[in-house]
Amino acid sequence: MKGLFLIYCLCCSLVLALTLPMKKSKHDDTGASLHPKDPESYNTSLADRCTAEGFDAVSLDDSGMMNFFRGNYVWKGFRGTAELINATWPEIDGDIDAAFRIHHKNKPEAHERMYLFKGEHVWAYYESKLVAGYPLKISEEFPGVPDHLDAAVECHSGECKSDSILFFKGNSVYLYDLSETPAVKKRNWPWFQNCTCAIRYLERYYCVQGVNFTRFNPVTGEIPHGYPLDMRDYFMDCPGRGHGHSVRKNSTLMSFKDRCSNRSFDAFTSDDSGRIYGFRGIYFFRTDSRRDGWHAWIHSHNWKGLRGTVDAAFNWENKIYFIQGSQVTIYISDQLYTLVQGYPLPLQEELGVQELDAAFTCPHSSLLYVIKGNKIRMVDLKASPRSPGTESTLLHSHVDSAMCDVRGVFIFDGPSFYQYKDVASLLNAKNLPDAHQISTEMLECSQ
Ligand SMILES: *[C@@H]1O[C@H](CO)[C@@H](O)[C@H](O)[C@H]1NC(C)=O
Ligand SMILES: *[C@@H]1O[C@H](CO)[C@@H](O)[C@H](O)[C@H]1NC(C)=O
Ligand SMILES: *[C@@H]1O[C@H](CO)[C@@H](O)[C@H](O)[C@H]1NC(C)=O
Ligand SMILES: *[C@@H]1O[C@H](CO)[C@@H](O)[C@H](O)[C@H]1NC(C)=O
Ligand SMILES: *[C@@H]1O[C@H](CO)[C@@H](O)[C@H](O)[C@H]1NC(C)=O
Ligand SMILES: *[C@@H]1O[C@H](CO)[C@@H](O)[C@H](O)[C@H]1NC(C)=O
Repeated sequence: MKGLFLIYCLCCSLVLALTLPMKKSKHDDTGASLHPKDPESYNTSLADRCTAEGFDAVSLDDSGMMNFFRGNYVWKGFRGTAELINATWPEIDGDIDAAFRIHHKNKPEAHERMYLFKGEHVWAYYESKLVAGYPLKISEEFPGVPDHLDAAVECHSGECKSDSILFFKGNSVYLYDLSETPAVKKRNWPWFQNCTCAIRYLERYYCVQGVNFTRFNPVTGEIPHGYPLDMRDYFMDCPGRGHGHSVRKNSTLMSFKDRCSNRSFDAFTSDDSGRIYGFRGIYFFRTDSRRDGWHAWIHSHNWKGLRGTVDAAFNWENKIYFIQGSQVTIYISDQLYTLVQGYPLPLQEELGVQELDAAFTCPHSSLLYVIKGNKIRMVDLKASPRSPGTESTLLHSHVDSAMCDVRGVFIFDGPSFYQYKDVASLLNAKNLPDAHQISTEMLECSQ
């Protein structure tokens, strides 16, 4: 245990056991509930994930489950009770220093193995089984990387220059490039603080100190404004905390957060790199993120300053456009989403339309389709000024949201979606295609 941040639970009165309804599916974020065999061995403070102690390590495993490690315990998923680490990883005795799920595409036999670090050693696991030949000394497996690490996180090619690991010890940061020799480069990030653990989640990188987390750019170490935040408000459901706080008592709001609730989505959008976002109430989901489990986030977590609900969203040229009532707000997407100066602006000024229910662009295209009621019109985003073309009528009398990706055009209405091969098929359709269920067919909810 890194003993620095053992601030004792000032908020114990808030820590009431509360479980949230959510359907279980293959990569659900519901924790399993295997209790330690001997309940007497519980140190209740250590076994409560919502105390201010924070974690020794946090990492996804090869099945897409997020694991939170502290002392002898691990919490699997964003909710769920404590289990002993050695119930899953019997070779590990007590607390670990660091963990990650390696991303090493050029080496399939190592790719997506989970690595656990303690003292001078590293253990590699696949499907919870120790990989033959492990444990190894850290100095053998990752020459140049120090023992007794504080934290480590995998960095994917495209986010770092190539598939790499970032190791943290004290105020030193080491980048270990998996494809180069010599592999280790020390990073000179003097502003960077010590991390007790480091996390990559949905392409973002976080340094954690106690329960505080700070986002950082894995290449430059740059830290955006607005951090640190408290993990208990974002990475887990803690009673009395976070964006779930007022939500919990309100079953209407809960149904926004539960991806399996059948509640309609306000907007869907897909970007050129295949990320798909679904927006509902104040929450968004990544629907292409099976490998990273499922989790609802509040809009402002990704798009600082974006408040309230979204009517429609679309992507164009590395930018995401949000339509809220008669206004449009634009964010540039790179490692961090940044608000384009001067926005929000009136929709009329930006797109030449007054209001809309849904909007979509197809990958690498500058043609925007806007839908209002059962009418669809096209706006060429490259034109200046922009104005909508002639109106066509859709077979759908009502549309919540629409999206286009390499698979075609998706029209969302209530709990259902309809798929068309391309825009022409949507515009020329004589019959409605079959309705599919968003929850079971897009979000892996069980029937
Ligand atoms: C529980 O763990 C905390 C932190 O290590 C320690 O201070 C406390 O004494 C422990 N309590 C019991 C009952 O062992
Ligand atoms: C698992 O860890 C607990 C807590 O450290 C310990 O009491 C128990 O003996 C361990 N079990 C095994 C099988 O090693
Ligand atoms: C960070 O690590 C350095 C080097 O180990 C140590 O001297 C310093 O006290 C640590 N700072 C904090 C805030 O823990
Ligand atoms: C966490 O952040 C809060 C607020 O910014 C700060 O008061 C506290 O000292 C931080 N705790 C740690 C362990 O860094
Ligand atoms: C629950 O939330 C909904 C949506 O914000 C709101 O309209 C409703 O009044 C809330 N109900 C209660 C009991 O707070
Ligand atoms: C969602 O709708 C489907 C089909 O009507 C139904 O089988 C399922 O139970 C619903 N889920 C919830 C959480 O109501």
